[in-house]
Amino acid sequence: MTGPEKVAEANNNIPPNKSRRDFLSITANIGLFGWLATSFYSIFSFLRSPDILYTDSERIGLGELDAMQPGTGKPFKLGNTPGILVRMSDGSLKAFSAVCSHMKCVVEYKEEEKLFLCPCHKGRYDLTGKVLSGPPPKPLSELKTEVVRNQIVVSQITERIKDA
Ligand code: FES
Repeated sequence: MTGPEKVAEANNNIPPNKSRRDFLSITANIGLFGWLATSFYSIFSFLRSPDILYTDSERIGLGELDAMQPGTGKPFKLGNTPGILVRMSDGSLKAFSAVCSHMKCVVEYKEEEKLFLCPCHKGRYDLTGKVLSGPPPKPLSELKTEVVRNQIVVSQITERIKDA
């Protein structure tokens, strides 16, 4: 048998739709693999996420205490209310509703200045929530913080800081 005859015989042994079947099979496998990878990644990301462990209208888990450095802040939402968690320089935790008492803008934690600043009318609050300057008539509302098995938990407003 010569070379061209061998090739012709080999071609006759290949089923006519084999390459299409292979292509569809490979495509389906790639699609399945992609779907599985995406699903596992989503599940893994959810389980691994240290920032927000759970939330409902009354409490929120905000990750490991050890992962939060003193002097840093972390914004969050408790239900529909924005809040700010701050780890003080002594390692303790403070959390406040981030709703400004003036006209309800959302205040921001300023790490360098160690205060809360309202961007709307420049109201300033200290790290205990008391008004330092500007138009806010009342302090920020404090939230309850606790550490449960090294996890930071912030819960509903328990008291409003009295004006000094
Ligand atoms: S709304 Fe915050 S200072 Fe006016």
